[in-house]
Amino acid sequence: MSVHIAAKPGEIAKQILMPGDPLRAKYIADNYLQNAQLVSSTRNIYFYTGNYKGQQISVGASGMGCPSIGIYSYELYTEYEVDSIIRIGTCGAYTADLKLFDIINVDNAYSESSFALYAWGFDENRMPHQGKAFDKINLTSQQNKQALLAASIHSSDIFYRKNWDIPVIAKDNNCVAVEMEAFSLFANARHLQKTAACLLTVSDVIPTGEKISADQREKALHPMIELALESSLV
Ligand code: HPA
Repeated sequence: MSVHIAAKPGEIAKQILMPGDPLRAKYIADNYLQNAQLVSSTRNIYFYTGNYKGQQISVGASGMGCPSIGIYSYELYTEYEVDSIIRIGTCGAYTADLKLFDIINVDNAYSESSFALYAWGFDENRMPHQGKAFDKINLTSQQNKQALLAASIHSSDIFYRKNWDIPVIAKDNNCVAVEMEAFSLFANARHLQKTAACLLTVSDVIPTGEKISADQREKALHPMIELALESSLV
């Protein structure tokens, strides 16, 4: 049991899939894992552990934003001996070259966030993915002939803002999309020498205003969920 996770030691697998939304964690557990058990529901942030193709995997929510995923990922790595966290989220595309439902494997997360500096003394606005999960995801997508773009993204602390122009950090560093969590996940994994990757499905295209509708959302995420599960098999 850690401060924010009620699971007992041993109840969480070494490999974790981490959506932002607790109900998406439940959906993945219900639809993809065998014998899934709810192992934590503190703050209604659900964690489930079950089997996928004979391997134990956990799926649990991060909540929204760098501070939230910073807490859960740190406790998972340090108190549950988790090796690898694959975040599976949605993003807003900064370019109309990306289409709704495209999937991105994040190679670098750029952020204005002070998280990495004040937590671990990393004085950089770029955090790379950590460990081998990124390569395994690329390989798995090639084997399954599934389209996947490896690219840099912007991890922003801001969802709503006054002027909608692409932020300078994103323009300067060719960030193709925006989300809100990868930077602190990668910073924690880097500090702790653990594995972290981030897959993102494009849920909105900011320049055109296109969006995945609420009822498309569940189905839209299947290819990303399957890719993350297959890539978690060791
Ligand atoms: N901003 C931040 N995070 C997001 C967005 C966005 O526009 N869309 C999906 N996740």
